[in-house]
Amino acid sequence: MRNRYASVLQVALIVTALGGLYFVAVAKHDERDALRRTSMELTPACRDKLQAYGLQFGAEYRSPYALKRTGSAQTLRGYSQEDVRSIERGCNIFDDLQGYAAKSGARERWYANRYVRGSQTTCVHCHQRVGDKQDAAGNRLVGSNGLGASWVMADMYDRFTGMLLPHEFRQMQCYINSSNGFKPNSVDDVVRDVTAYSRFLAAALDLKIGNRYPEQGMDEIPASATLRRGDDYVRGAHVYRQKCAACHGPQGFGTVVDGRVVYPALAGPNAFSLDSRMNFQKVNTVMSGFICRNMPLGQEGTLENQQCRDIAYYLSTLPRPAGDLQGPLAAAWQQLMMTVMPPLTKYAETIGHHDATRAAN
Ligand code: HEC
Ligand code: HEC
Repeated sequence: MRNRYASVLQVALIVTALGGLYFVAVAKHDERDALRRTSMELTPACRDKLQAYGLQFGAEYRSPYALKRTGSAQTLRGYSQEDVRSIERGCNIFDDLQGYAAKSGARERWYANRYVRGSQTTCVHCHQRVGDKQDAAGNRLVGSNGLGASWVMADMYDRFTGMLLPHEFRQMQCYINSSNGFKPNSVDDVVRDVTAYSRFLAAALDLKIGNRYPEQGMDEIPASATLRRGDDYVRGAHVYRQKCAACHGPQGFGTVVDGRVVYPALAGPNAFSLDSRMNFQKVNTVMSGFICRNMPLGQEGTLENQQCRDIAYYLSTLPRPAGDLQGPLAAAWQQLMMTVMPPLTKYAETIGHHDATRAAN
């Protein structure tokens, strides 16, 4: 008889515990839903961008950008409150992946630092102007890695995997290697919100689905687009010191002030991984194209194709995290290199400097 009571009690305990967990989960879920519905504070760049493109709740949408550029704008289906929130969150995630601007930890749905290892990466380091780079006259720029243009291409043939990758999978790739992080689920909020934002950009810029626009992706630079003197990382290191080091640091570790990134790291633990397409030794045309079209900031387009390839080659020789395909040995090796190389390089530079001053005397 006592045994029977004991087992009934056991079952009751288990049921109560599970029931409790269930209610906690439901409450958490409601909390997140409520959070998704509340209005949010946009980052300054997102506020400007979304305001300029006239994002608001309503039955119809007409693009101010199209109106200004062509004198007419189609009337498109408008956005629900939910759409507006999703687009806003998408922009914030893209601009402020680390959540610096988010007011409290409870608002983690509006940033995505749980998906990246470093404390510095954010999408706009490589997709400039919140994924929509333009010149002063409002022209979108060739090879500026634009999000709207990427979205209208829908499924894109990917020559590296041999697959048709939807916009969502492209985002996932960028989390894994370009941001040295982890893969969010393709229906995770962070992916859906960035997709909503990209789709809005496409509508605001009046882009047509299925078209290829020049601001999509990189304006890649193959070796054949140079005088074919061969790529040289020593030459690259030289140009890097002259044109890039002032912002990105002598060893490419970037510049951080008060915990905020001013200039992103191009090497070291906070940079993209060996498997990122930005890594010259993985794909030698993409980073070269990025540099020639988008850097040095403020003097874009001043470098020659060969210089961009040389710098990209040099950057790929610096230590950085291993990629997701390389296994624990490579990861340990890179970790070791990231630890010993910086002080060694610094030491070598002080000796070199010393010799140089002696020679000058
Ligand atoms: C270190 C640089 C870097 C960072 C950081 C980065 N990306 Fe990318 N992204 C790239 C490169 C390079 C491509 C590929 C362009 C190509 O293949 O032409 C790309 C492509 C994409 C594409 C497909 C665009 C296209 O037209 O091919 C999407 C979408 C995307 N990234 C989203 C993101 C998101 C979201 C983040 C932040 C979590 C992010 N990226 C962070 C460099 C970066
Ligand atoms: C005036 C400062 C400045 C100079 C000079 C400069 N950069 Fe940048 N760079 C930036 C900023 C800021 C970003 C982030 C994107 C943005 O805000 O436009 C960036 C982004 C980058 C990125 C993409 C970020 C990443 O995570 O990989 C690369 C690569 C890069 N720069 C390479 C270079 C190279 C190579 C040079 C020299 C030819 C150079 N930069 C010169 C300021 C600078």
